[in-house]
Amino acid sequence: MMTVEQATYSRLENLDIRELPFGQVFTDHMYVCTYKDGQWDAGKIQPYGNLSLSPGMQGLHYGQSIFEGMKAYRNSSDEVVLFRPIENQLRLNKSAQRMCMPDLPEHLFMDGLKKLLEMDSEWVPSYEGFSLYIRPFMFASGVGVQARPSEEYTFMIICSPVSAYYSKPVKLLIEETYSRAAYGGTGTAKAGGNYGGSFYPARLAAEKGYDQLMWTDSIEHKYIEEAGTMNIFFRIGDELVTPALSGTILEGITRDSVIKLARHIGIPVVERKISVDELMEAYDNNTLTEAFGVGTAATVSVISHIGRGDKQIILDENQEFALRIKENMDNIRVGKQSDDLNWIMKVC
Ligand SMILES: Cc1ncc(COP(=O)(O)O)c(C=O)c1O
Repeated sequence: MMTVEQATYSRLENLDIRELPFGQVFTDHMYVCTYKDGQWDAGKIQPYGNLSLSPGMQGLHYGQSIFEGMKAYRNSSDEVVLFRPIENQLRLNKSAQRMCMPDLPEHLFMDGLKKLLEMDSEWVPSYEGFSLYIRPFMFASGVGVQARPSEEYTFMIICSPVSAYYSKPVKLLIEETYSRAAYGGTGTAKAGGNYGGSFYPARLAAEKGYDQLMWTDSIEHKYIEEAGTMNIFFRIGDELVTPALSGTILEGITRDSVIKLARHIGIPVVERKISVDELMEAYDNNTLTEAFGVGTAATVSVISHIGRGDKQIILDENQEFALRIKENMDNIRVGKQSDDLNWIMKVC
């Protein structure tokens, strides 16, 4: 059975959640499960705190490290709810498979998550636009500097109160030199190394005034893939277009939700290849009217600028489809609109 060790006091009393930087202050408790001798233990909730790890820990050396990102919301009835949490559990295990890590049973993920949220429920903000960001992650905790899969793993969940990741429309630079993921690589896994490898090109883009990169395929740099931590949608004519899942794009849960929701509210959506040239042409002939990124952290973020080399596309920040989708999603999450697609799970 899961064991629970309660923190002696709550750090929440001395904090104003509205003033915190994104994802740097964590709640009072964390959940820890360990895998050894071919099986997971029953899990433990304990006060949030530092870990003691061996410098020879395999996760540090060979990158067997995966994570998830999800949010808990406080709805208008003052309940704590989750948005499609099973999808995160399933994706964690897909990432685990790709990185040669063990499967985490659904009950260990969900029971630990629910108990943690119950214990730290006061940390789920009620302010509009705020939520509790949840970070489940797994890393190789076995020891040995030999390049092979670990035999021991640690799964944890930590939580941090947040507001929106981007507070204003974002500027993206189309990346035509570096790649985020290659065919047959780890692009569809939420593996730490995918992010580590993206920071340098993203920094070069930031030096040119961009918030993030818009990645293109690794072979020709011709087709658009996704942005830093978001999948991308374009409105071309009266249709939404999003890059088809190619094996190199992260299969975003928000992406899937936006596709389903858009269709539900009567907006046509097409998943297909979309080239940088097509995007530029659509802009030139005025059929490209919207671009937005979608993701758990970023929610729905309007893209106002898209750079390609020295050229720049500038889009109107008032984007009808983006706004309609964002409003519908937000309203479903906080219970202001009926959950027709059955996405909400009440925790407490
Ligand atoms: C590379 C990347 N693409 C897309 C997404 C959006 O995925 P989701 O909607 O599941 O948060 C994320 C965020 O987690 C991401 O890191």
